[in-house]
Amino acid sequence: MRKIVILTGAGISAESGLGTFRDAGGIWTKYPLEDVATPEGFARDPVLVHEFYNARRVQAAAAQPNAAHHALARLQRDWPGEVVIVTQNVDGLHEAGGARGVIHMHGTLAGALCAGCGHRWVAPETMDTTTPCPACTRPSARPDVVWFGEMPYFMDTIFDHLASADLFAAIGTSGQVYPAAGFVQEATASGARTIELNLEPSAVASNFDETRFGPASRVVPDWVSDMLGLRG
Ligand code: APR
Repeated sequence: MRKIVILTGAGISAESGLGTFRDAGGIWTKYPLEDVATPEGFARDPVLVHEFYNARRVQAAAAQPNAAHHALARLQRDWPGEVVIVTQNVDGLHEAGGARGVIHMHGTLAGALCAGCGHRWVAPETMDTTTPCPACTRPSARPDVVWFGEMPYFMDTIFDHLASADLFAAIGTSGQVYPAAGFVQEATASGARTIELNLEPSAVASNFDETRFGPASRVVPDWVSDMLGLRG
């Protein structure tokens, strides 16, 4: 058991005060995702989309990593093999918790992308329809976040990691959004053992060899302690 690949979702940041998407009171119960998380929605009403991401950017910047983020950073530090963290989250809490080389497959709130020339830069705290691209100067800035209908980032790298994983863990994700929800099957097909850590069974829980349910701030540190042989 040398290489561990970990997929995280919104549930790992819930106890840091960042809402999940599909739980009761979740983000998609408040905002129609078609309006704020699709290229079509951005074309229709860029002001609304900028307001939505500006608010999330401010909230994420104020949030603190919790015990689950810190535990994964510790696993990365102390595990004798490779630990790769792939996240669907657009917050920076893994890095704030000490993790390295986190693969943000859905982008980050801290990034800006030019819808015109494709240039990327560090997002200012707030953006609007006049925010110029530092490269082409056109006012076509958008959040560097992957919207529905767009291809997630780093997919080749992620599939390479899944193909060479000995252990695949999914943490705080509902298993409703592909391609991430299919990673467990990719890992299983490559011979990896698989574990789900979540508040409740996800939509793909039956695909895992092992499941542990409870709040991430408890089940993740316990799992990491088990992995590092720290619990008798
Ligand atoms: N600890 C552990 N798990 C939790 C906690 C918690 N404190 N709170 C909620 N959860 C679990 C929920 O039970 C649920 O299964 O986290 C999961 C969150 O699911 P979603 O809201 O669907 O979020 P996620 O799976 O990350 O969504 C995937 O969909 O909306 C798009 O691009 C967005 O990256 C996102 C993707």
